[in-house]
Amino acid sequence: MMETQKWVNIIVITHVLMIIHIVSAAKSLSEADRIVNLPGQPPVSFHQYAGYIVVDENQQRALFYYFAEAETDPTSKPLVLWLNGGPGCSSIGAGAFCEHGPFKPSGDILVSNAYSWNKRANMLYLESPAGVGFSYSANKSFYASVNDEMTARDNLAFLQKWFTKFPEYKGRDLFITGESYGGHYVPQLAELIIQSKIKFNLKGIAIGNPLLEFNNDLNSRAEFLWSHGLISDATFEIFTSVCNFSQYRRESFSGSLTPVCSGVMNQVSKEISKFIDVYDVTLDVCLPSVLAQSETLKNMPTREGVDVCVEDETVKYLNRKDVQDTLHAQLVGLNRWTICSDVLKYEMQDLEIPTVHVLGRLVRSGIRVLVYSGDQDSVVPLTGTRRLINGLAKELGLNTTSPYKAWFEGKQVAGWTQVYGDILSFATIRGAAHEAPFSQPERSLVLFERFLAGKPLPEAEDLPFVKQMHP
Ligand SMILES: *[C@@H]1O[C@H](CO)[C@@H](O)[C@H](O)[C@H]1NC(C)=O
Ligand SMILES: *[C@@H]1O[C@H](CO)[C@@H](O)[C@H](O)[C@H]1NC(C)=O
Ligand SMILES: *[C@@H]1O[C@H](CO)[C@@H](O)[C@H](O)[C@H]1NC(C)=O
Repeated sequence: MMETQKWVNIIVITHVLMIIHIVSAAKSLSEADRIVNLPGQPPVSFHQYAGYIVVDENQQRALFYYFAEAETDPTSKPLVLWLNGGPGCSSIGAGAFCEHGPFKPSGDILVSNAYSWNKRANMLYLESPAGVGFSYSANKSFYASVNDEMTARDNLAFLQKWFTKFPEYKGRDLFITGESYGGHYVPQLAELIIQSKIKFNLKGIAIGNPLLEFNNDLNSRAEFLWSHGLISDATFEIFTSVCNFSQYRRESFSGSLTPVCSGVMNQVSKEISKFIDVYDVTLDVCLPSVLAQSETLKNMPTREGVDVCVEDETVKYLNRKDVQDTLHAQLVGLNRWTICSDVLKYEMQDLEIPTVHVLGRLVRSGIRVLVYSGDQDSVVPLTGTRRLINGLAKELGLNTTSPYKAWFEGKQVAGWTQVYGDILSFATIRGAAHEAPFSQPERSLVLFERFLAGKPLPEAEDLPFVKQMHP
């Protein structure tokens, strides 16, 4: 009797131990990626994680992520994946540290970002494809030619394996967001998720100043530059009739730049001047970057605290050994972390794949789509994007459900917006860059919050009569 009881006890205990072991194994999958404290960060109450997800075991190809859980109540908030463009630029360097992550680097420390997107969501930043940032392929041949299809496939594999590490997020409302060449990555990944029939709870996508249609987007640049006074009438004329921008880019990608196109572009660049940030034509430039003497000049914050040198600060920060150790990051086959990849050869032909129709198919599948434009960007100007979305709505037979009008943040106009069929929206962000949250963080956060909630953008409150200045 005693003996039997003893054996039963041992068996029960063994089972309990096994169960504890299994549970803690699942837990420890993500625990291993837990960040205790980023060097120089202020104290915070939310959890942060960073590390690698191997997307191809044979080729040892691994993608690096940074995950900032929501500041408060993470279990009730959605999961948002963010993808920067390039192709070849880092979502952690640009998205997290220059745009809408919880911290911005400043000297040796990190300062809190009052408009961080993790106030509204659990934010997952992914460096993709391999070759970008800390993401790598042990077989370097991978870098020789990467295209949209490979990127989307790896991004999907990443998400699947990431959910194994973070199973509590598997059924969570999922939004995929990004900007610029994210106009390819974001809808292509969303469509692949739908096609693969994997049960992610994908609710919507949002893309800022996205590349959606090569000719349309690139050629809207000329008018933007001209109307903002950056190029002369004569130069506008040759930039539209002699050689336009899509032609110039096509020639330069294929290594067959003609003297005619090269002449037009030289004139355009000369008039714009190198002291203009073409990603925000009204913003001052970071002089250390422009003059390549980073250490000698102090930062010059402009426009109510926009640190135009934040990118330089980020590069410095992410190249610190203590920072890399804390992030569980490695430099595989690289000497330095760079904001945009030096090793990746992206298939430039893919820039010409139109993705505006992918947006259409997503809308038809019931996925909410927001396309927004920082209105001071000359690289993918709002005018071209607005025209495309308007055309798409017509093509889909979506009626305007909210006519073109100003939206507000605080007591000021934050931009203009139009909604089609309550599922497709276009919005501008007034005074914002190509990387809208970088120069208009507060307006961008309001837009983000309303998008996640599926609510209309704020309208004018009961404002007192606004006295206009007379000339
Ligand atoms: C490395 O990658 C290239 C291209 O993807 C492939 O053809 C080659 O077989 C790979 N090499 C090894 C050793 O796996
Ligand atoms: C400008 O771009 C369009 C679209 O790519 C092209 O069809 C056209 O030939 C170009 N025109 C000139 C004058 O460069
Ligand atoms: C769109 O508007 C047209 C004209 O007002 C109307 O006939 C049509 O039913 C509307 N379509 C939808 C889907 O509401």
